[in-house]
Amino acid sequence: MVKITIENLAEKEVISQDSRTSILKLLHESGIDWMHACGGKGRCTTCKMIVLKGMENLSSVSPVEIRYREQRQLADNERLACQSRALGEIVIRVADEYKLPHLHYSD
Ligand code: FES
Repeated sequence: MVKITIENLAEKEVISQDSRTSILKLLHESGIDWMHACGGKGRCTTCKMIVLKGMENLSSVSPVEIRYREQRQLADNERLACQSRALGEIVIRVADEYKLPHLHYSD
């Protein structure tokens, strides 16, 4: 079972049996708005998520993410929602710089 909890967005949860779909797509299918400036093509980092728990429950780091890590645009505790899939339970946060203006986040 996939369970995605967004800690700084009212603890919103996505529960799914689908571990083959990107996290970005699962969030959007659940009606949760998440920044994705390049449309989920791995060409920006605006879909970045900070992983608080469950890093081991994510798909392998993609070549795109490795490149961003080498460029220091992605930290070790961060993943791109469009490039990763959840394989179990994870707890994530929206990065401050990519919070959407129309949503209310907690600290
Ligand atoms: S939406 Fe641009 S890299 Fe994920």
